[in-house]
Amino acid sequence: METRILKINSEDIDGEAIEKAGALIREGELVAFPTETVYGLGGDALNPEASRKIYRAKGRPSDNPLIVHISRFEDLKPLVKEVTEDVGRLMEAFWPGPLTLILKKSGLVPEETTGGLPTVAVRMPSHPVALSFIAAAGGYVAAPSANVSGRPSPTKAVHVMEDLGGRIPLILDGDDSQIGLESTILDMTAGVPTILRPGYITQDMLQKVLDQVETDPSLLRPDCKEPPRAPGMRYRHYAPRGELTVVEGAPAAVIACINDLTRKARSEGKRTGVLGTKETEKEYAADSIKSVGERRDEEAIARNLYRLLREFDEEGTDVIFSESFHGGSLGQAVMNRLLKAAGYRVHKVHSLKSEE
Ligand code: TXA
Ligand code: MG
Repeated sequence: METRILKINSEDIDGEAIEKAGALIREGELVAFPTETVYGLGGDALNPEASRKIYRAKGRPSDNPLIVHISRFEDLKPLVKEVTEDVGRLMEAFWPGPLTLILKKSGLVPEETTGGLPTVAVRMPSHPVALSFIAAAGGYVAAPSANVSGRPSPTKAVHVMEDLGGRIPLILDGDDSQIGLESTILDMTAGVPTILRPGYITQDMLQKVLDQVETDPSLLRPDCKEPPRAPGMRYRHYAPRGELTVVEGAPAAVIACINDLTRKARSEGKRTGVLGTKETEKEYAADSIKSVGERRDEEAIARNLYRLLREFDEEGTDVIFSESFHGGSLGQAVMNRLLKAAGYRVHKVHSLKSEE
């Protein structure tokens, strides 16, 4: 199958192009589209055959449920058993935007879309191209991130082409994703609302709207006995092809340690990569050194992370050493993705004498 990329200007949306994309979805086909978080691989959420196609195209296990994307508030009600006051408040505060809500599903949503679960994940993205496309597609678009299962999520149309070229008829190109990490997932079905995947909307932000919000304990402690409640968080994920190790500790000690590890890997004939910041990139000696941006600019770190992991792959990097990016309001979301990408391979270093 030939895959076309159609460039859409967010400020002046080409109605005809959107109508064509919407028609493909209504016919049961798949279309990749931009959102403010990452690119999505869309299919008709109410058509079980379209959901099966999504799983096939991504190579994704079919027990890992999809997020249903909507473009209007009033389209939520038919999907779910109940829209509580709390859910209404969350929609007012965060939709359209990077928040996904898990709710009890109605009979309208096929089990193929929810991976057999009695609940459904729903989100209204804020990207103008996504909103027009969802409306043209009939209002309900099931979409996982548009990567092959296990690879970093796509933040550019060319990333989607790399992964899904030849498997889908159309990619809508709406420029680079602004946020760069997938939406926050909040489970509203079990007692206290619980964050199942951290993202741009943080626990602090949610707590301004709801009395109580918890975070799934398995996110805070990867060695936790409890399995994560979002099925997708169980899989190794977001991973580059090279072996990634995160190095944690005081800044000077981290630089020294990464340089040691790099030297050793190079002496074994490996192609090496380092993921650092604008402040530290000059300190390293590796085959490929990349900067996520200034350390204090956490939005840039979130936006650049997946793209840089993909670039290491393109360059055939065998081993990658990364600084860690804790702290700030996005630190939890960034580190959640980075540690998963590293398969939780972490090298902790003690501070150098001069830093004590
Ligand atoms: O930002 C995003 O959310 C992007 C864009 C395209 O909207 N989408 C995305 O979808 O990240 P995906 O499929 O890559 O991740 C969805 C996550 C998975 O971990 C899945 O297990 C979880 O949401 N999920 C979906 N439905 C669920 C449900 N009913 N209960 C618990 N977890 C659910
Ligand atoms: Mg994904």
